[in-house]
Amino acid sequence: MKALVLSGGSGTRLRPFTHSMPKQLIPIANKPVLVHVLENIRDLGVREAGIIVGDRAQQIEQALGDGSGLGMRITYIPQERPLGLAHCVSLARPFLGRDDFVMYLGDNMLPDGVTDVAAEFTARRPDAQVVVHKVSDPRAFGVAELAADGRVERLVEKPQEPRSDLAMVGVYFFTPAIHRAVASIRPSARGELEITDAVQWLLSHGGEVRASEYAGYWKDTGRAEDVLECNQRILEGLSPHVAGHIDRDSTISGNVVIEPGARVLMSRIEGPAMIGAGSVIENSHVGPGTCIGRDCELRGTRLTNSIVLEGARISGVPGLHSSLIGRGSQVGPSAPRSAHHRLVVGDDAWIEVA
Ligand code: G1P
Repeated sequence: MKALVLSGGSGTRLRPFTHSMPKQLIPIANKPVLVHVLENIRDLGVREAGIIVGDRAQQIEQALGDGSGLGMRITYIPQERPLGLAHCVSLARPFLGRDDFVMYLGDNMLPDGVTDVAAEFTARRPDAQVVVHKVSDPRAFGVAELAADGRVERLVEKPQEPRSDLAMVGVYFFTPAIHRAVASIRPSARGELEITDAVQWLLSHGGEVRASEYAGYWKDTGRAEDVLECNQRILEGLSPHVAGHIDRDSTISGNVVIEPGARVLMSRIEGPAMIGAGSVIENSHVGPGTCIGRDCELRGTRLTNSIVLEGARISGVPGLHSSLIGRGSQVGPSAPRSAHHRLVVGDDAWIEVA
């Protein structure tokens, strides 16, 4: 079995981050979402992955290389424009050949893994096996209607009036039967070749499509709130590890990771939390649910439930929470005695001032 990971797309809901980086490289527990995805694929025993990349290809290739760091072989497959998930399958046809494959959306986090689903697929080998998860509002997803024995009866992409509460998670197992389906469908109302329509085509043409329910935690990390929530959730399972320096005037509680070269001075770190390699935390209180990336500086600052990306500097801000701070950003107090706020903010940023 091979893997096809979809990592094109423009990530409009995660602006401003996606102006400069692909959403799949946003860190969750200081590790890009895409690495979490590939680790899950590797857990299935799959070693060969094709990654569909768009205009942020270079950054993705820089982060993952040829895959050997993860014990995998990665082939990059460029997609000029985001024309849909089924379009990605047709682009990957030469890479996939006649192999079965798992297709995995590069922004989907499933920390509980999909080994059970893979085993079901291998045991029965239906034409396609989709993964579903109960959600309270399925209208933003592909929705599956199932028969009692787990066979899929109908799939609808983003229905206004869903007939079931089972959303399709961004993981699919396919036999090569999907290629004919992909070649037979037409673009949807949003102008994309939908994978949901391709799987529905299989159903309508006598194919066997089965569904497995994934009962674990699932997050499509499409928006800032999703990224923060998912980060907190993943941190719940954090194993503590201190490689950096903590001075005698600092206190650490709960599960905390201090990466090599990080320095914690006169500060309090309340886990679960991670301090990235080479970062300096001084006179600060880093609270639960927080990840500081590499080479950041925090001084006189208090923050909780937040993610700070590589190279950001924050000083003199005592009450930050649920924040996502981009690479190389600077957050700090205004000039002495000034009663005003001063902002130099990039496109599509989002700021809440108390
Ligand atoms: C895509 C699929 C949808 C699926 C979702 C899961 O939606 O089209 O069927 O439920 O991923 O994340 P999109 O993220 O392209 O809107």
